[in-house]
Amino acid sequence: MKITVIGTGYVGLVSGICFCKIGHEVICVDNDQEKIAKLNNGVMPIYEPDLADILHSASQNRQISFTTDLASAIEQSEAIFIAVGTPQDESNGDADLSFVYQVARDIALASKSYKVIVTKSTVPVGTNQKIKQIIKGCNPRLEFSIVSNPEFLKQGAAVEDFLNPDRIVLGIEDDRAQNAMTEIYRPLQKANAKIIYTDIASAELIKYAANSFLAVKIGFINEIANLCEKVGADVREVSKGIGLDPRIGPKFLNPGPGFGGSCFPKDILALSNTAKQNNVKSSIIDAVISSNNNRKLAMVDRIITACNNNVGNKTIAILGLAFKAGTDDVRYSPAIVIIKELLKKGAKINAYDSQAIKNCQRAIGDNSVIKYFDNPYDASKGSDALVIATEWDEFRSLDLKQIKELQKTPLIIDLRNMVDVSKAQEFGFDYFGIGINPTQ
Ligand code: UGA
Repeated sequence: MKITVIGTGYVGLVSGICFCKIGHEVICVDNDQEKIAKLNNGVMPIYEPDLADILHSASQNRQISFTTDLASAIEQSEAIFIAVGTPQDESNGDADLSFVYQVARDIALASKSYKVIVTKSTVPVGTNQKIKQIIKGCNPRLEFSIVSNPEFLKQGAAVEDFLNPDRIVLGIEDDRAQNAMTEIYRPLQKANAKIIYTDIASAELIKYAANSFLAVKIGFINEIANLCEKVGADVREVSKGIGLDPRIGPKFLNPGPGFGGSCFPKDILALSNTAKQNNVKSSIIDAVISSNNNRKLAMVDRIITACNNNVGNKTIAILGLAFKAGTDDVRYSPAIVIIKELLKKGAKINAYDSQAIKNCQRAIGDNSVIKYFDNPYDASKGSDALVIATEWDEFRSLDLKQIKELQKTPLIIDLRNMVDVSKAQEFGFDYFGIGINPTQ
């Protein structure tokens, strides 16, 4: 099929390129001319494993094109995917839907024949109905269907998630749209993907409930980790012990410095707001929001305590800046919160991340206060403490002997439990992990 995807952000780009991989022809639209020019030259604006290779073969097969010409892209396809951003409105925590609604108007005005208009952007319950009203208002004679098709792509594993999905959720109102969507996803269905056909409100809510539930799981294990430290238990054993119960499952039970990224913090807040707007109590969700915000700050206290209650003029090496491994994204990254707070306390920061230094530089702004390094060893040199903030695999195999020789004080604060504790102790480090150091 010929598909138009509007928005070449994370979701739009991954979906657009992966639709080519499953045999469709795709036009990607964005109003950012520079980005479109780069994409037409094969330059990827994001780092995502395998995506550049798929783009390369799709371009060679002439399956994909990038344009700023929305009207022509709409004219050429029956299926139009909306994949523009829904950033958090900082004033009230709601999702900012202005880009989605603007695109709905643009689609309505540019369409001359039947369209299936599919929302992939993460939007609160009720948004697709509003999109429908906007389109009807702008172009009353247009025949169209609306579909809610939320995405479940994890950054760093997005291509894999797209091509081997646990489920494809389709909120649909009519058969014509159902037939079109079935056609689009048929190649994945052949590969055993489960398709859930449901109503639009349920599809919209599935997305928020899924992300919020996972966030609850992380918030929960982080609190259990705190308890482990007090009672001399090992959270890794507790995670394993509860995760083997299939009703609980082993995933998302790794404690850490709190969840970040462009999805969980934004979506859980938006769900809480939706509940409030509907006079429904969301006490569990609200508790996780505050527990996660406090968690990032508690990590700062943990570092200061480990540094004998004073980080003033001390050099702290931060390994990992991205909100998680496999991405260059630093949005709501615990590492950024930690760096900002440590700087306020007078610490000097040596930072290392294999992918996220550029984005960290943008996020921190004043970069005279941080030194960036291109490997963990140079970052560790002369440091009073080494903090592991992101779960990059490379930190599992750090050469501890070398780090011990390079650090001023042999101190590791491992916020992701990456280092082998017994080895760290063998080499004579003061080592603090998460949920594994009994203090009694
Ligand atoms: C999340 C969801 O996992 C995707 O299914 C969803 O499609 C996506 O949001 C979205 O809404 O677009 P993502 O934000 O890429 O994906 O990241 P996750 O892998 O879910 O991790 C989120 C945060 O939780 C990270 O900061 C990570 O370090 C943290 N985390 C995750 C933990 O602290 N412990 C865990 O056990 C798992």
